[in-house]
Amino acid sequence: MISATTVAIAYHSGQGHTAVLAEAVGGGATEAGATAVQIPVDTVTAEQWRTLDAADAIVFGAPTYLGTASAAFHVFAESTSGRWAKRAWTGKVAAGFTVSGSMSGDKLHTLQYFSIFAAQHGMHWVNLDLLPGWSASTASVHDLNRLGITLGAGAQTDTDRGPEAVSGADARTAFHLGARVARVAAALNATPALSAAAH
Ligand SMILES: Cc1cc2nc3c(=O)[nH]c(=O)nc-3n(C[C@H](O)[C@H](O)[C@H](O)COP(=O)(O)O)c2cc1C
Repeated sequence: MISATTVAIAYHSGQGHTAVLAEAVGGGATEAGATAVQIPVDTVTAEQWRTLDAADAIVFGAPTYLGTASAAFHVFAESTSGRWAKRAWTGKVAAGFTVSGSMSGDKLHTLQYFSIFAAQHGMHWVNLDLLPGWSASTASVHDLNRLGITLGAGAQTDTDRGPEAVSGADARTAFHLGARVARVAAALNATPALSAAAH
C-alpha cells in the first residue's frame, strides 16, 4: 500500500536554495501518498540515521559546488561506508536533485555522482522521466524540466539572490521527481524480491 511508503530526502543546503527543492520533492512524495521526511545531512542525528535505514526510498540533494556535490554531502556519503559494507541500503529506491548558479553549472556531474553513490549501495536509481522543456520557440523558461535534465531534477538560481528566487518551474520539476519516487517505491514494496525489505 502506498501509504506505507516512506521517502527520506537527505540533502545539504548552504544558502537555502537546495532546501527549497527538498521541500518540493517532499511535497510530491506526499501527494503521491508517501510519508516524506527531510533530513539535513550536515546535522544528521541518530534518530535520522534510523529513519534513513528504514526508508523505502532516499532522495539525495545537494548544491553543485565546484562541479560536484557540496563537501558536506560528501562527508555524509563517506559516513555511510559501514552501511555499504553491510549492504544495509540494498533494494531501496534512490534519486537525486541539485542546484547551481549557472544554467549548466556542471550539475550533470553531481547527479552522476549521486547515481553512482546509489549504485554502490545497491539501490534502484529512478530518473526524472520528463521530456526537456524550453527547447522550442513555443516553449518557455517556465516549463517543467526547463533545463532538460533526465537523470534527476536540476535547478538554477542566481547566486546573488536568496531561496525565494528558486524558479517555480524548477520546484515543480522537483515535485514531479518526489511523486515519481514515491510511486516507484510503492510498486517495489509490492514486489518483495526487489524491495529493501527483502534484504
Ligand atoms: C563553493 C561554491 C562553489 C560553487 N560552484 C558552482 C559550480 O561549480 N557551478 C555553478 O553553476 N554554481 C556554483 N556555485 C553556486 C551554487 O551552486 C548556487 O549558489 C546554489 O544555488 C547554492 O545552493 P544552496 O543555497 O543550497 O547552497 C557554487 C557556490 C559555492 C558557494
